[in-house]
Amino acid sequence: MTFVVKENCIKCKFTDCVEVCPVDCFYEGENMLAINPDECIDCGVCEPECPAEAIVSDAELSPDDPVDWVALNDRLSKQWPNLTKQLEKLPDADKYNRVDNPDVPDKMADLSENPGKGD
Ligand code: SF4
Ligand code: F3S
Repeated sequence: MTFVVKENCIKCKFTDCVEVCPVDCFYEGENMLAINPDECIDCGVCEPECPAEAIVSDAELSPDDPVDWVALNDRLSKQWPNLTKQLEKLPDADKYNRVDNPDVPDKMADLSENPGKGD
């Protein structure tokens, strides 16, 4: 069991989540974070911290979802650096937050696999 970061993190990257994770298992891409499923202890404390509601338990994932979020988080977390301290959100984070702006289209095509800086 693990929690995963989903699509609405893309182009937002609020990073409130990293501050609360007891095992520092968030990894930073250029415009999204990923959770390492092997390190996540399934505590759930990060989920309510995300202003983009981008973090969910794998138990809540739909089998019909076209994206395998556990596999994507696993792969990206292993190619990105660890992030443990909150950063400034991305400049257009509020504009691209689909919680507040439901008309923003799906952002998967905008996912960058480039690494962030980490800390
Ligand atoms: Fe970290 Fe807990 Fe969130 Fe897993 S569920 S990423 S261990 S805060
Ligand atoms: Fe992303 Fe939400 Fe964390 S937008 S960086 S999962 S607080």
